[in-house]
Amino acid sequence: MENVNKTPIWFMRQAGRYLPEYRRIRAQNKTFLNLCLNPDLSAKISLQPIERFDLDFIILFSDILVIPFALGQNVSFKKNHGPILSPISSIKELKYKNLQANINKISNIFETLSILNSKKKDKKLIGFCGGPFTVLNYMIEGGTSIDHRKIKNFVSQEKKKAFELIKILTEISIEYLKRQVDSGADYLQIFESWAGLLEKEEYENFIIKPNQEISLELKKYSDKIKIIHFPRGSKDKYSLFIENVFCDVISLDLNFPEEIIGQVKKKEIAIQGNLDPIVLLEGGRKLEEKVLEVLDKFKKNNHIFNLSHGILPDTKIINVEKLIQIVRNYDSTK
Ligand code: CP3
Repeated sequence: MENVNKTPIWFMRQAGRYLPEYRRIRAQNKTFLNLCLNPDLSAKISLQPIERFDLDFIILFSDILVIPFALGQNVSFKKNHGPILSPISSIKELKYKNLQANINKISNIFETLSILNSKKKDKKLIGFCGGPFTVLNYMIEGGTSIDHRKIKNFVSQEKKKAFELIKILTEISIEYLKRQVDSGADYLQIFESWAGLLEKEEYENFIIKPNQEISLELKKYSDKIKIIHFPRGSKDKYSLFIENVFCDVISLDLNFPEEIIGQVKKKEIAIQGNLDPIVLLEGGRKLEEKVLEVLDKFKKNNHIFNLSHGILPDTKIINVEKLIQIVRNYDSTK
């Protein structure tokens, strides 16, 4: 059957360990950060899911933790363990000089984007960074955390230091994203993966305000750039977020309030999401049903098909192929 559906599609973490062609390159490059800073290999990895699945968006292959690295923190990635950072508790522990000098440590990433820009044809190119609070979370916790005790204490007990660090992270993120625009990014996604940890004034101060500043500065910088926000876990505060933060696209997880669907339509914000990556992992009939459910739910909106979080490493290729086929064949006029 011809493709009838125009809903564009991509996956968070579309370049990664579920792809054998990624694992082959990764096996020969033990230091993940070096891979992120190698323009030829990063560009090649970014294009792997496009070559395999003909997705509509290319996302830069890199990581949100290149920013702590650029700020002088030790960052490494241990197999089956996730990232490891030597935790900090104040700005003094960073080698923070001036924005340009710090960003220049990761300027290879702009070269990756330029390569991708020259090869993107009709695909859209996505650059990204972590939301300031999410990046701070890893800097303070020193890596993946179960209870997030250190970061929660830090924002409530060490407010002044938290504000200082968030300010630097916001500034460096803005500068970093501007350089991504210069290098050919069409879209920018801000991964605020740990937004759900905060409530009330802390949500306002550490999630809304920094994300708003990033959006405003980037929109001032370029009238073409499109911004995707992903304040994961915001639950009932998703509405507050879109009322206060400029978004072209809002990326939804599984637990958003239903009124969002109408609210974003009025504001002409597109919806990105939101199939559960576990459903994709498990496959079968449930996968078919849930993909259709997502398509039906957002068929009156401007919709970019995606997951509610990153694709899981054990996901089978045939399940990904099946999902894409259902999306491409869906008739949203029915
Ligand atoms: O989406 C893409 O394909 C682009 C590349 C990308 C990666 N990480 C590659 C990666 C993107 C956009 C990210 C974002 C990222 N990184 C986030 C935000 C999204 C989210 O998942 O909430 C976060 C929190 C990180 C930090 C990070 N990087 C963690 C916690 C881990 C380890 C756990 C895991 O999921 O793998 C990483 C490592 C990482 N980043 C890998 C990849 C392909 C795996 C590294 C490997 O090959 O061993």
